[in-house]
Amino acid sequence: MTIHLGHLIHITGAPTLQEAPAALVDIADGALVIDDATGIIVYSGPRAGLSEDADGVTVDHGDAYLIPGFVDAHIHFPQTYSLDAYGGGQLLEWLSTCIFPAEARLADPKFAQRIARDFTARRIATGTTAAMVFGSAFGHAQDALFTETARVGLRLVSGRGIQTVGPDSAEPLLTSEADAIALTRAEIERWHGADTGDPSTSLLHTAIVPRFTLSVTTQTLRALGELYAEVADTGVYVHTHLNENNRPGTGEIDSVKQLFEVDTYLDTYDGKFLPGSAHGGESLLGRRTILAHAVHCTDAELDRMAQTGTSIAHCPTSQLFLGSGTMPWRRTVGSGVTVAAGSDCGAGDEWLISRVLSDAFKVHISEPGDAGVSIHPAQLLFTGTLAGARALDAEDRFGNLDVGKEADFLVIEPWRWPPLEVVLANGIRADDADLAREQELFALLMALREPAIAEVYVRGQRVSPDEG
Ligand code: GUN
Ligand code: ZN
Repeated sequence: MTIHLGHLIHITGAPTLQEAPAALVDIADGALVIDDATGIIVYSGPRAGLSEDADGVTVDHGDAYLIPGFVDAHIHFPQTYSLDAYGGGQLLEWLSTCIFPAEARLADPKFAQRIARDFTARRIATGTTAAMVFGSAFGHAQDALFTETARVGLRLVSGRGIQTVGPDSAEPLLTSEADAIALTRAEIERWHGADTGDPSTSLLHTAIVPRFTLSVTTQTLRALGELYAEVADTGVYVHTHLNENNRPGTGEIDSVKQLFEVDTYLDTYDGKFLPGSAHGGESLLGRRTILAHAVHCTDAELDRMAQTGTSIAHCPTSQLFLGSGTMPWRRTVGSGVTVAAGSDCGAGDEWLISRVLSDAFKVHISEPGDAGVSIHPAQLLFTGTLAGARALDAEDRFGNLDVGKEADFLVIEPWRWPPLEVVLANGIRADDADLAREQELFALLMALREPAIAEVYVRGQRVSPDEG
């Protein structure tokens, strides 16, 4: 056993977003006991409640906070060096000018190795213990990503980014229709559950990742639907973008509707629009599907996502950066769809999920009229941890510090980042216990920066870029 002593903060149980404030656990004199053989939490609570015979190594973190590892529900591996890239316009211009050329550089295996190392090191530095990672077009780059992630011991869901059509600048990233399927199938066979040989215990999982509707054809989508129907029972995921840019006429959403002759963007992932069979093709929606952005959804799209268990990766930092607009928070979470946080690096220029939550707080309190909402600190923490685990259909394994979960947690030492330390030491109303708890969590999330993340654990094991 290993006994970690510190200030525990997490969202217990399996609440809805609305129930998260009542599920907030905050124990200043806390203890987390982990079974070393399995990495599973066997005790989580006040130190005073530790049983007499709890023996093992004790790690006393002093006044440090122990919080669940962050879950990033949408981040782009091949854009590791493309944050803050100026493309002279919104989504489609930025993709053509900056991103497709940057992603083409991963054709070089040496470059791919280096970017895989740097991507993984950034994840450790920012405490992103689990992530849905939008992959490179190149198989060797995906091999480098899975290999490096396995070496350090983080969780990873990823799949090669599939593109069968695109502008000239995307040409190096395109494959034939047949190769799109063959390469995706090969990646699934090689990496899905590879570390343990069993996806239900693995840290490594694969996904089917069409870049977005404008990067593929009806034929690609139909074939991917068929592949998904074949492999879904092994827990393979689906990941792509939805309803991000609505610039009239030339934006992403209008282009999808015009080219694919669909009523809604979501239809293109749902199989039913596909010609050639009376009932339509196989759907790519489901409990293991995460759609990034979903800024401009109709009620029908949100209802269909809720009905199928499809989740949204909410990426407010990216939406600010590319001028994509504001996802209506109340309407979206009110639909019952799980909404997790995504950095969307590189369009998002923050790796740290708490910075993404900070942007979420700011943009949603600024929504006009009745739509504006001051998101509760417990709901912010929920969105960056437990909701991410739920979106990954892995809530039974991680996402909070409950007994029985695999121990994914961060050790936050405020004294490593003085601007955080001073607000925690001086900014909290001590005369009201409930308010003090909420203010403390809010300050912790809003003022947290990388230097304060002292240690990162996945399944009870310390993760570091130099070890493995
Ligand atoms: N839509 C298609 N590709 C991308 C991408 O790389 N980033 C973002 N933000 N949206 C996309
Ligand atoms: Zn993205």
